[in-house]
Amino acid sequence: MQVEVREFKGTADYIVSEDLRNSVNVSMALGRPLLIKGEPGTGKTMLAKSIAEGLGLKLIIWNIKSTTKAQDGLYVYDTVQRLYDSQFGDHNVSDISQYIKMGKLGEAFLSDKPVVLLIDEIDKADLEFPNDLLWELDMMSFYIPETGVTVTAKQRPIVIITSNAEKELPDAFLRRCIFHYINFPEPEMMANIVNVHHPHLEDKLVSEAMEAFYWIRSLSGLQKPPSTSELLDWVQALTVGGVSLEKIRKEIPLLGVLIKKNQDFDVIISRLHTQTPNKTTTKGQNVWR
Ligand SMILES: Nc1ncnc2c1ncn2[C@@H]1O[C@H](COP(=O)(O)OP(=O)(O)O)[C@@H](O)[C@H]1O
Ligand SMILES: [Mg+2]
Repeated sequence: MQVEVREFKGTADYIVSEDLRNSVNVSMALGRPLLIKGEPGTGKTMLAKSIAEGLGLKLIIWNIKSTTKAQDGLYVYDTVQRLYDSQFGDHNVSDISQYIKMGKLGEAFLSDKPVVLLIDEIDKADLEFPNDLLWELDMMSFYIPETGVTVTAKQRPIVIITSNAEKELPDAFLRRCIFHYINFPEPEMMANIVNVHHPHLEDKLVSEAMEAFYWIRSLSGLQKPPSTSELLDWVQALTVGGVSLEKIRKEIPLLGVLIKKNQDFDVIISRLHTQTPNKTTTKGQNVWR
């Protein structure tokens, strides 16, 4: 297995902090998985896409669901197809290797060129899942008893694992990863993120929308505070809807783009009656009153 030194510098469409960029480069240099945590919408999935794009490598995405098992990522032995072929087909079914289908990890291991492997939302699976992958991720190899073949990574993949922090991950797993927590973006960074997605928006519209957005996020008692993706949709909706700038903070129009829970609507509307989102900056911190 060859190890090549690579440096991630970011991509034009992804705003990356220096800390995060360093974590990516350290994890690649040490050949360890990078575990990215952070609330939804903080750009975890997009980071893997940006790394692949920035390094010119293929991205393999393994989307984890509540039913996903570690074995699914290695390989699946298609016994049903083999049985079918043995009864109705005319070809030789004794060669079992033709019924072994690689999972995402297997695919990454067999690739001639290094790839970026995104194991997305690992916290969706049960607690055993990360532990079941430890050996394979450590050794970069696994054994297929049905064929007696050991699959070993031709090139060490760059492994990015994301978690929405729904569950704590096992210690043994955490020990093997480089960990990075993506904080929710500060307004300055958020303005850059909005700008890369919607470069032609009026500055004033973006600043009014951001004031309303951060005011909403500062309210206590919200079940699901809006995230970056909702803000990106909202600024676009405000533009398409031709909403006048004066209304953005006072009325928070098209609130349904930002807020998805009834109860959160009520919280925001009742607070809007008593205050208008308004920002004052004290010692570099954003204070809402
Ligand atoms: N740093 C960033 N730079 C550019 N776009 C971002 C950034 N962070 C989030 N986004 C945008 O926000 C949305 C949600 O990002 P995503 O990667 O799906 O978040 P997560 O996986 O953390 O839930 C996407 O549309 C993405 O383009
Ligand atoms: Mg994601």
